[in-house]
Amino acid sequence: MVQRLVFLGAPGSGKGTQAAILSKKLGIEAISTGVMLREAVAADTEVGRRVIEIMTSGNLVDDATMAEVVKERISFLEAEDGFIFDGYPRNLAQADTFDEILRDRGITLNAAILIDVPKDVLTQRLIERQRLDDTEAAVGRRIEVYHQQTEPLVGYFESRQLLRKVDGRLTIEEVAEEIMEQLSLN
Ligand code: AP5
Repeated sequence: MVQRLVFLGAPGSGKGTQAAILSKKLGIEAISTGVMLREAVAADTEVGRRVIEIMTSGNLVDDATMAEVVKERISFLEAEDGFIFDGYPRNLAQADTFDEILRDRGITLNAAILIDVPKDVLTQRLIERQRLDDTEAAVGRRIEVYHQQTEPLVGYFESRQLLRKVDGRLTIEEVAEEIMEQLSLN
């Protein structure tokens, strides 16, 4: 079965790491809105100039910009393609928009994978990494924004029977195994 997935989790929970592993294993695309925005910043595009300060402060880019970015990216997918969305949707409004975008294309999601990691572990992992938005202040803000705006998506996907939860404190290899198990792909 073709997998069409969303990865949910706090900053530093391992979404990007696991999306890359699963993408390779299943031969499907991993689409990270964070990576797309960082590429726009690096290329100094109009979108990049619009979002750089917001990203550096650890806040979320506005929903309209994100809808624009995601719609354009989805237009490159064929109807039969599998995918992993990492970092989108990020709040309830984005989840509704995503639902509409997918419905327009006749695409349904198979699962939303929540990678669960406690706050102290997240902070340590990110501060060690040193990305532009991995300063102590921005990491703190990103975690706060996750709890306020993204965590409600857990209930959203649960009520649609799409939520699968994995323990993100395990090693990278063990988390990858758990994800395969949750998707009944082992
Ligand atoms: P985004 O790029 O999505 O960043 P994030 O959600 O803050 O997540 P990270 O990339 O920091 O962490 P991750 O969970 O992917 O973990 P990773 O695998 O990297 O977003 C950045 C910004 O873009 C946002 O703040 C916002 O401004 C904007 N943005 C993006 N999408 C948006 C949207 N939809 N709406 C609005 N704004 C949006 O791992 C982290 C570290 O931990 C790595 O060093 C890794 O090696 C290590 N690690 C991973 N797994 C393990 C493990 N199991 N054990 C030990 N170490 C591990």
